[in-house]
Amino acid sequence: MGAQPGEAAEFTDLESAAMIAALNAAREGVRGANPLVGAAILTADGQIVTGHHGGTGTPHAEVEAITTAHDLDIDLTTATLLVTLEPCDHHGRTGPCTEAILAAEIPSVVFASPDPNPLAAGGGNTLAEAGLTVRSGLCEEDSRALNARWVRSLTEARPFVTAKIAQSLDGAVAAADATSQWITSAESRAHAHEVRSRVDAILVGTGTAVADDPRLNARGPDGIALDDQPRPVVLGTSELPVTSFLALNPNTLHLRTHDVREALDELYAAGARHLLVEGGPTVLGAFFSAGVVDEVFCYQAPLLIGPGRGSVDGLEIGTLSEALQLIPDDTETPAVSRVGPDFLLHFATADPGPDSTGLPESVT
Ligand SMILES: NC(=O)c1ccc[n+]([C@@H]2O[C@H](COP(=O)([O-])OP(=O)(O)OC[C@H]3O[C@@H](n4cnc5c(N)ncnc54)[C@H](OP(=O)(O)O)[C@@H]3O)[C@@H](O)[C@H]2O)c1
Repeated sequence: MGAQPGEAAEFTDLESAAMIAALNAAREGVRGANPLVGAAILTADGQIVTGHHGGTGTPHAEVEAITTAHDLDIDLTTATLLVTLEPCDHHGRTGPCTEAILAAEIPSVVFASPDPNPLAAGGGNTLAEAGLTVRSGLCEEDSRALNARWVRSLTEARPFVTAKIAQSLDGAVAAADATSQWITSAESRAHAHEVRSRVDAILVGTGTAVADDPRLNARGPDGIALDDQPRPVVLGTSELPVTSFLALNPNTLHLRTHDVREALDELYAAGARHLLVEGGPTVLGAFFSAGVVDEVFCYQAPLLIGPGRGSVDGLEIGTLSEALQLIPDDTETPAVSRVGPDFLLHFATADPGPDSTGLPESVT
């Protein structure tokens, strides 16, 4: 029987280097509703191979690293697996990592931090009970920082919320006559579809549903709808026009409430872990006011529209010192980038974790 996970453990310099490589690999993953997880296999002769989790439904980091090691004919029976998050022990969209580790006959595992998801936790104990040497706590703070936002939505038992704003330079999302298609460029809309493809659900208010008749689906670069679609959600009490795309889509969830928390509870209960709120201004204001927005993508078009609809309505902020402060998010890509003629601004509302310069260089 190996050491119990969670016990104070000693780590070698090579193990520390391998865990840093795993943390760097984790950073390659998709930020948002999924944890960023990296894994490194350290061989008896000091070789390190890494893997990372690439987002919902893709292989977990441990499986990636094991697959690469197999491809390289690495002897795993004398290796140590280092992983930034406790190996999962449940059947989610992929099988349990504990089974993959046991099947690979890896004798020793080090994980940085325990899995805060009660559904997936316990992998350390399972492996220790199976006779592996299991240690934890190496680079724990770095691993926690990497996943601060994911942990926050997990502990609040609500979906991770991304807000999308597509606005003119003077902050409008619609002109005075309510026309709004399109303020931003085709390139911005393509990026927005890439974001849509990562989420479980996309929400608009009844105002947008009626004004724009959106489909709220995710389309690929060729404009064709992807196989795996997020769930369209409409918030508000009004009925939708019977011939609208959302009314005709049997998957549409119409939440007849103005209560954001109630809506999030219902979405969470329905299995949504990542929600994209696309507006309009009333609903965006309600989500910001409720303090539940985790991430913001703002597409800023080089247009001046004049009197129209401001992008966020109803924030009861009376003075500058009460302003809602956003944090430029450089973690995945630069917080400011060009998409065609537009600027894409990426923000977090809480510390998004270390940026690309926040971790030491990979040692692989
Ligand atoms: N450029 C862009 O990216 C973009 C994106 C989205 C929208 N828009 C534009 O925005 C305009 C629509 O703005 P909007 O503000 O009317 O749209 P909205 O925010 O989509 O919908 C507002 C409606 O949602 C319902 N609602 C749901 N939760 C609410 C809450 N917590 N508080 C108050 N009402 C709530 C209310 O209707 P009920 O009476 O039904 O409850 C309310 O009238 C359109 O011109 C659209 O084209 C632009």
